[in-house]
Amino acid sequence: MNSSIVLPPSAIIPWAELKIGENQVPFSTIYEDIYYSQDGGIDESMHVFLHGNNLPERWKQNADFVIGESGLGSALNLLVTWSSWKKFLNTCTCPVNHNLHYISFEKHPITLHTLQQIYDKGKRYEDSIKILDIYPQLLPDEYPSYKKLIVPKERLTISIFWGEMLQSLQWILSTGNNSVAPSIVPTIDAWFLDGHAPARNPDLWSSELFSLIKKITSHNGTLATYSVAGKVKNNLKEAGFDISKKTGYGRKREMLVGICPKCGT
Ligand SMILES: C[S@@+](CC[C@H](N)C(=O)[O-])C[C@H]1O[C@@H](n2cnc3c(N)ncnc32)[C@H](O)[C@@H]1O
Repeated sequence: MNSSIVLPPSAIIPWAELKIGENQVPFSTIYEDIYYSQDGGIDESMHVFLHGNNLPERWKQNADFVIGESGLGSALNLLVTWSSWKKFLNTCTCPVNHNLHYISFEKHPITLHTLQQIYDKGKRYEDSIKILDIYPQLLPDEYPSYKKLIVPKERLTISIFWGEMLQSLQWILSTGNNSVAPSIVPTIDAWFLDGHAPARNPDLWSSELFSLIKKITSHNGTLATYSVAGKVKNNLKEAGFDISKKTGYGRKREMLVGICPKCGT
């Protein structure tokens, strides 16, 4: 386990405020929005974020694969990714050792107690115990801060930037010349854009944020999101992503996927 505080701590931790609502889905009272689909969070995560980025298929091609996520929330996407990754490692006849680095950005950490309630109520979540086991080691001691956990047996590294995502990206990019940043954040191969709805949380969908995301995306890096809001499409295009629509999950008819041919060149 590695953990390091690298951002100047400034404030008390702004813990998430939520209630567990319909279908046991957490609901943020800060953003007035659900954390994941009421039609099934696990299947949504697979459909939108993993399949939307052509995963697990692409793991075969990259020995070291990096995922970036806006909004760790209840870590359900991390959990679903981890389970798929484990299956991939067990079935892959890969000539080299594969590694996955999952990097997430989160402004409002959920307390361990609340996370236990979320996963207790959702007993159907296979492997949730894994998240509950490691979560205390990932939680911030100071704010903003950065935590990194290596799970060597599973060839998995998890990094969490606790704080405002825009500021964390600015910090990462500002340290780019002194060789600290590359060791913390290699370029991202696939983005899970999972902020709350753009109308309620514009900060995670702004052109300023996407222009920084572009700077740490690998060549032909991809993204996927459940949102097809006009502003999101325009801001992604402006940042340099080629985007297209796919069939959405549950009651969402459509979703967006994107690729960045101009990144990392
Ligand atoms: C829809 S939820 C994410 C759900 C999550 N991926 C999961 O698996 O449960 C959106 C998350 O974005 C976080 N968030 C909102 N604004 C943010 C910001 N400006 N910077 C970082 N995180 C932010 C919220 O606190 C919330 O946890």
